[in-house]
Amino acid sequence: MPRLFTAVEIPADVGQSLALLRGGLPGARWVEPENYHLTLRFIGDIDDALAREIAALLSRVRRPAFALHIEGLDSFGGNKPRAVVAAISAAPGLVDLQADHERLMQRMGFEPERKFRPHVTLARLRDTSSREVADYLATRAPFRSASFPVSRFVLYSSRASIGGGPYVVEAEYPLAA
Ligand code: 2AM
Repeated sequence: MPRLFTAVEIPADVGQSLALLRGGLPGARWVEPENYHLTLRFIGDIDDALAREIAALLSRVRRPAFALHIEGLDSFGGNKPRAVVAAISAAPGLVDLQADHERLMQRMGFEPERKFRPHVTLARLRDTSSREVADYLATRAPFRSASFPVSRFVLYSSRASIGGGPYVVEAEYPLAA
């Protein structure tokens, strides 16, 4: 059973600048830069027939290309931090695209996702205190990338039931020029 999710890829040059933020946080497991991505909709572990059906439905999504940038660093999990993330600008094109994926998955019978908070996970945390995360963010949080174009989204698979990289592009879907 493949574990699937839809995502926007992060260009290599943006990934390189994000990779400079690795290190300096006890207990962090840093994501490999080649695995950086912006999740649109997590789908989960499903069988091959349903995966093919979803892949076909995604090709009906019609949305224009848009531009994004990274606008700061943040953490998820409050006083039990579980991830350090790079926040992504909520461009209307991105929000509309994600909403299409959300609607499509709900029509397929999947439970609604929590509110969309566009981000790239930089590190997953275990036993890192909120103090340590605050110290890390204090010196790095103003990080901002140049704007980058998004001209397609992809359907990724990861190793079933394990998560984490490496991720494989199972299908790619162009956005209108
Ligand atoms: P993330 O985007 O915050 O890192 C592949 O597992 C991707 O889907 C990850 O990037 C992960 O989170 C996202 N995701 C969302 N919900 C998930 C869930 N319930 N289990 C695993 N990954 C999930």
